[in-house]
Amino acid sequence: MNVLWIFAHPEPQSLNGSLRDEGIATLRSLDHQVRESDLYAMHWNPVVDKIATAPDDVRAEHEKLAWADAVVFQFPLWWYGTPAILKGWFDRVLIQGYGYDVRDEDGRVLRYGEGTLAGKRALVVVTAGGSEASLGPRGVNGPLEDLLFGLQHGTFFYTGMSVLPPVAVLSANRMTQEQYDVAAEQLRKRLHSLETTEPLPFRTQNGGDYDRNLVLRADLAPGESGFGVHRAG
Ligand SMILES: Cc1cc2nc3c(=O)[nH]c(=O)nc-3n(C[C@H](O)[C@H](O)[C@H](O)COP(=O)(O)O)c2cc1C
Repeated sequence: MNVLWIFAHPEPQSLNGSLRDEGIATLRSLDHQVRESDLYAMHWNPVVDKIATAPDDVRAEHEKLAWADAVVFQFPLWWYGTPAILKGWFDRVLIQGYGYDVRDEDGRVLRYGEGTLAGKRALVVVTAGGSEASLGPRGVNGPLEDLLFGLQHGTFFYTGMSVLPPVAVLSANRMTQEQYDVAAEQLRKRLHSLETTEPLPFRTQNGGDYDRNLVLRADLAPGESGFGVHRAG
């Protein structure tokens, strides 16, 4: 497989840096081809100054995405989201006609399961200071899968990608060597099954589950609301 690794951490000598090195070495040992966008090292400009334009640095990312069968997005959770540099990668790379407002020959809008990046796999590798409990169903931070909804559903699935369950390294601020070894092993395992892991069962926009207002049909997940209803099962 061709794998593009998008890395958004300022320090190579960090937990994230170590996991990145581990991850890329693992993929290479499995004979995957790996290319990287190390956003801080590239001095990536995260600020949109003109909507829907594709200067050379954006085109270069489009070329890498076209090449990739799978894309790994690795970042530390900062203020419930991605570091600004990665948010700015989405803002500048996933432009009109490429990330959104993509249509087929009949003018039908392609999004949520269809689009430019259809057929590619997306994998989040995230580290967070919060514990598993505090990022769990009733934890004070909110469930991690809710925090990742805008990214996994609103960005990756929106642009057509198949979204794999994330690799989450939690309680990441004070890790012992043993805890790091467990995290690294978890990452290696998930990369071994990159080609075969079942994607999250997000409902496609045009698959019949939504009405003309893009609201989930009343007979599906009846009486329920919230992010979870957009997953079948
Ligand atoms: C600016 C900033 C914001 C953060 N926001 C959160 C947060 O919202 N939730 C959380 O669990 N941890 C948060 N953290 C903790 C980081 O996720 C944690 O330090 C990081 O994942 C550890 O990996 P590293 O050593 O590679 O940076 C934040 C840290 C920083 C510096």
